[in-house]
This record gives sequence, structure tokens and C-alpha cells, in this order.
Amino acid sequence: MEDQRPSPEWPSRIYLMGFMGSGKSKLGAKLARRLNYEFRDLDTLITEREGRPVTAIFAEHGEAFFRKAEAEMLHATDAFHQTIIALGGGTPCFGQNMDWISRNGWTVYLRIPVATLLGRLRKRKDSRPLLSALNDDEMLEYIKRTLEQRRPFYERAHVILDAENLSPEETEEALWESLNSGRHQADPRLN
Ligand code: S3P
Repeated sequence: MEDQRPSPEWPSRIYLMGFMGSGKSKLGAKLARRLNYEFRDLDTLITEREGRPVTAIFAEHGEAFFRKAEAEMLHATDAFHQTIIALGGGTPCFGQNMDWISRNGWTVYLRIPVATLLGRLRKRKDSRPLLSALNDDEMLEYIKRTLEQRRPFYERAHVILDAENLSPEETEEALWESLNSGRHQADPRLN
């Protein structure tokens, strides 16, 4: 994909959704550079606001506190323009978040199969409070069960990318084509 200028028809905010380990942050940062958009990561914004990492927020205040902070930070992203925002894996699946996201941006679901997620997350579970205490078998069960619960939210995305077998370049290309196909323009609120 060549260096691209953002088109005035493109949506102001692009929200990347997907399970932990689906590659939202990596793809988001890369795509933003190519599209001349800003990049923000919701977990990083929460960490900055709370002054401590997500693991510490879960440990000190529990998940309910984190979900409240997450929803508040999500709503604050309406101040961003020409920005790609990587959401946390659970963000679309709590409260009314998915309705809000759909109204305020263009949404992309990076769909990755359970076995691949397990392979990736086994190596990176320490920074993820929902996984850090689980052994491999428990993690497999957790991913299967949670993905099943979250699927109906993720699948409301404007675009679903089966990203597993795509290189980062191919994933970018697929997103670029979706943007250019004008599919987001079906919802005029997104511009
Ligand atoms: C979570 C995913 C994490 C982070 C928190 C909870 C989830 O983000 O928000 O640990 O519920 O799936 P990543 O998807 O960036 O790991």
C-alpha cells in the first residue's frame, strides 16, 4: 500500500476491536502511519489517567472499577479526529459500549481463531490480569468461552477481517480497500 492521504469521506475515528492477542495495537499503529491518522490505545489512555498499569488497576480496585474507567475513557475518545483507536478486548462487550462505538466511529473486528489466540497469549499473559493466573488448559477454556460470549458484540463491526493468515501488509491493504469502498458512508454520522 502506498502512502495515502486521508480522504474527506473517510470516518473521523476508526475503532479496532478483537480478543486479547488479536493484534489491534500493532496494526493500528502501522495503519495510522500509512493513513496519516493519529493512533491511540484505550488501555494506554486508561493507564495514563489512572497513573498505574491495567494489572494494578484490576489488582487494587477490581474489574468493575476498570470497566467504569474504560467506558469513561471510551466516551472521551469522541474528542479525537482522524484517529485510529485500538480498544481493549472487552471494551465493546460491556454496558452500552458497542452502541456508543457504532454511533461514534467506523468499527473493524480482527477475527482470529482460538488456537492462534492461545499460542500468542501463552507467551504474553503476564500483562493481562484476566489470564495471568490460568494454566494452558484453563486458558484454552477461558478463551473459548469468552470468545463465544463476545462474538455477538464483535460481529456488529462494520468490517470483519479474518486476519489470521494475512501478513500485516495484507491486513492493511484489506482495510484500505474497505475504507475506499465507501462502506462506512452508509452511516452518515460517521463522517
Ligand atoms: C481485556 C483486554 C485487555 C485489557 C484488560 C481486559 C479483556 O486489552 O483491556 O486486560 O477484557 O479482554 P487487550 O485486548 O489490548 O489485551
